[in-house]
Amino acid sequence: MSDAMPKPEPVLETERLILRPPCGDDFEAWAATARDEEVMRHLGGVKSRFDAWNHFTSAVGSWHVLGFHAFSVIEKRTGRWVGRVGPLHPDGWPGDEIGWTLAREAWGKGYATEAATAAIDWTFANLGWVRIIHCIAPANTASQAVAKRLGSILQGPGHMPAPRDQDPIEIWGQTRKQWFLRHAARTASMPSQ
Ligand SMILES: CC(C)(COP(=O)(O)OP(=O)(O)OC[C@H]1O[C@@H](n2cnc3c(N)ncnc32)[C@H](O)[C@@H]1OP(=O)(O)O)[C@@H](O)C(=O)NCCC(=O)NCCS
Repeated sequence: MSDAMPKPEPVLETERLILRPPCGDDFEAWAATARDEEVMRHLGGVKSRFDAWNHFTSAVGSWHVLGFHAFSVIEKRTGRWVGRVGPLHPDGWPGDEIGWTLAREAWGKGYATEAATAAIDWTFANLGWVRIIHCIAPANTASQAVAKRLGSILQGPGHMPAPRDQDPIEIWGQTRKQWFLRHAARTASMPSQ
């Protein structure tokens, strides 16, 4: 393929989920999560539809400008958009992040960990990152639990870019090497076909 050809958009498949870049059809479900107080509790509170649109279009734009951003997560069984999970690095961000946000009805099923595992595999295979972080509010125990399930550890306090520089966050993370050591253990423990 010549350099002038656009790269095909990645589509990842897990046991229960499809991960693909966001498209216009995702916006209504995205906006519904942005006005859900429970979902937004540790993400700066609920957002107006206008702010949700700006966030959504910046996610779509990041795929075009950078070639990556969080994937839309689609539940295979229903075809529903259930959240966004994957790599992101907005300007001024404290590091190369793997983030996760799910619609409330998709919590408690293991979807965040399942999607993040596929997204991390893809990220380390395609983006050249040597470590990943997760920016997590100290009170966000559900998100900390996902980080721990993935093998990430707490590294200390962090700072978001302005105007979010007063948000209390902690940085969790792990290196590419640590991930692949765990990955080797994961694949070694899988039953052979
Ligand atoms: C953070 C967030 C993604 C975590 O979602 P989650 O569903 O708790 O996380 P997981 O997908 O790893 O699921 C784990 C849970 O599913 C349960 N589960 C059920 N079936 C399962 C299965 N087949 N496989 C694995 N886990 C399963 C686990 O027991 C666990 O429940 P528990 O925490 O009650 O023990 C979710 O709370 C969220 O979207 N919050 C709002 C946005 C947010 O704060 N994002 C993070 C910003 S840093």
